[in-house]
Amino acid sequence: MTAYQDAIQRIAEQKRRLGGRLSILAHHYQSDEIVAQADITGDSLELARRIDTLDAELIVFCGVYFMAESAAILRRPDQKIFTPEPEATCPMADMADAESVRRTLAALGKGRTIVPLTYVNSSAAVKAVVGEAGGSVCTSANASTMLRWALDRGDAVLFLPDRHLGWNTADKLGLSERERLLIDPAFPDADAAAKARLLLWPGHCPVHDAYGAELVEKARREHPGCLVAVHPESPPAVVAAADADGSTSFLIRWCEQAPEGSTLVIGTEASLVDRLAARYKGGKTILHLDMGWCEDMRKTTPDTLADLLERIDSARPEDVAEAIRIPARLALEKMLQACS
Ligand code: 13P
Ligand code: SF4
Repeated sequence: MTAYQDAIQRIAEQKRRLGGRLSILAHHYQSDEIVAQADITGDSLELARRIDTLDAELIVFCGVYFMAESAAILRRPDQKIFTPEPEATCPMADMADAESVRRTLAALGKGRTIVPLTYVNSSAAVKAVVGEAGGSVCTSANASTMLRWALDRGDAVLFLPDRHLGWNTADKLGLSERERLLIDPAFPDADAAAKARLLLWPGHCPVHDAYGAELVEKARREHPGCLVAVHPESPPAVVAAADADGSTSFLIRWCEQAPEGSTLVIGTEASLVDRLAARYKGGKTILHLDMGWCEDMRKTTPDTLADLLERIDSARPEDVAEAIRIPARLALEKMLQACS
């Protein structure tokens, strides 16, 4: 038996033992091996919404840390959240720390109401600062609705940490470029910020930031008639050159709805593109805009999942201190209400 087969067998034994007490959730960027073990897969918004609807008391979240943290914030009191790989971080989320966000809001908010809007790819501590300041959370699936929500509630919005998602969403809402400002949290410029309605934190996703518009042009040259869709964490020039953009679930639906025989070029994390290519092989041609894996998403393996399930009765669940959980939950609930 290979090490992989051994891990799959251990997972199957634990699933039998735990029965309905257990639910395994996986983000679309998890490997095929993990997705095959999941009860539910989804984008960040879909997974966050499912938590308190699940009957299971033991919820294993396969993704990166901010997703497990959000689940721990949204769980019912009788549920426990676990993650097989607590070291799986998100480099973009790590680009905004709670203290810098608090300082920036204080420095730029003199005499103006700044509503902070944080991408769900952020720590619980950042969500708590945002919640305390009257702001909310967005995901790639609802960024337009939530940016509109935030713009309607103050003089300006501080969008963090993904500058590209902020800029791409402002494009969709038709906000003029003159009203946008990329800020430097180390040296907040209150005079420049006073003229802007959208203040963008300078964060990015290393996987999607690597794409350039020339890749879209190359794909169109090499595959005449192809259609291109990208995740909105991609740079604005890439989104502008593509035919469509949206969350991971949007990209999956987009491939599903494309006619047989089409050639589709997808700009997002490579595991998901490989899965789509395999799913539609022989009917639709699915190609990578570029090859790039999220190293943190790949940290969860059948082995780490089997290890967790075997010790789940004594394992430490994900925990968020009350002082952070309460304001962070407020911020998340505003999003769930605004997008219900
Ligand atoms: P989705 O919410 O679109 O699944 O994206 C999460 C993410 O981390 C993309 O890099
Ligand atoms: Fe974070 Fe990018 Fe990985 Fe998504 S793909 S989890 S944004 S590093």
